[in-house]
Amino acid sequence: MDIELQRTNTPHCRQLIHFNNAGASLVPVPVSLTIEQYLKLEQELGPYEAQRKNSVAIDKIYVDCARFLNCQPNEIALTSGATQAWYVLLHAINWQKGDKILLTNLEYGGFYLALLQLQKIYDLELEVIPVNKGIFDLAGLKARLNNKVKLVSISHLASHGGAVLPVREIGELLQKYPCYYAVDVAQSIGQLPIDVENIQCDFLIGTGRKYLRAPRGTGFLYVRAQHLPQLTAFFANSRYVNLADDKQNFTLHTNSARIFEAWESCYAIRLGLAEAMLYAEKVGLNQIWQRIQLLAHYLQEQIASIPQLQPANQERDASGIMLWNSPYSALEISRALQQREKPINIEPWNAASSPLMQFANNNTQLLRFSPHYYNTIEEIDEVVTSLKEVIAKF
Ligand SMILES: Cc1ncc(COP(=O)(O)O)c(C=O)c1O
Repeated sequence: MDIELQRTNTPHCRQLIHFNNAGASLVPVPVSLTIEQYLKLEQELGPYEAQRKNSVAIDKIYVDCARFLNCQPNEIALTSGATQAWYVLLHAINWQKGDKILLTNLEYGGFYLALLQLQKIYDLELEVIPVNKGIFDLAGLKARLNNKVKLVSISHLASHGGAVLPVREIGELLQKYPCYYAVDVAQSIGQLPIDVENIQCDFLIGTGRKYLRAPRGTGFLYVRAQHLPQLTAFFANSRYVNLADDKQNFTLHTNSARIFEAWESCYAIRLGLAEAMLYAEKVGLNQIWQRIQLLAHYLQEQIASIPQLQPANQERDASGIMLWNSPYSALEISRALQQREKPINIEPWNAASSPLMQFANNNTQLLRFSPHYYNTIEEIDEVVTSLKEVIAKF
């Protein structure tokens, strides 16, 4: 990978050290140019007129997403982020009292809240499969599968980092059972290759702004086409509804996941999302993953030399996201790092994002570091030196 080229395409990485890519990444120049050009066109032509003029490019967003995930364009709905995708999906499933949902303790906080709401509305059962020290208990999942299980929800890579779950092996196992299989790739998309055929999932939920380097406000939902006729969009997009002549009845389209989209959207950032996927493909997902692991491994080793910080994840981190326990305020440490001559961005991590994890209590002070491929070994050294200086002042 040509790191200098990647850094040139990420101009502000020379003015600051951005280790908060699990929050939101810095977008590369081709992505920001795509957005700026489209917004300019809206000013020049009028927003509706710009949309009509760009209808081919706007339709191609779905083609680009489909290629990126290895699915069909009609299996993609674009959303404002992963949580919106999760909500529209959950409320489209035909739940029956007593249906069961299996999830893990890695479930993202917002996703877990949505499941709790659903549980109360439909009288469902939730069961958490614990992931201990990064090991997913495949036999434990198998033992829990029966006709009551309607959905298995797996977080591919949690918000706090740690293990990358074996989504392909889980998908393989679930083929023999009549349940839906949903995978949350909010943190893994753009970090490693994702292929829905390989995972054999029914649904995939993702967000653009993290490792994919797309703008904020972008996300997607993949729905396997065969399930579309069984799902009912709760929030119907009038573009995909046929209102009967009597104006009393209607039918929803069943051949496109776009039924799950809101009517209104910002086309500039959606074009940015497609450009970010194209960009990641050009850099190479395998190369990105290798580079992130290399940087993460080095960063982990260097932080371990700071005696005041303790690793919060029990397993050895395999991804770019790592969490460390601090005896001092995480917020104050991160603020002090931002006030350095060259600002350093790390995240004072909010334990509510992973509410089912053991370390998640309100007093824990956690620092999340999440480098991307455009970061460097020299930056890691600078972050660790700065951290030592900041911590010494507490
Ligand atoms: C693992 C995981 N899932 C889902 C989400 C939610 O994504 P969004 O904020 O785009 O809704 C996040 C956000 O941090 C996340 O880390």
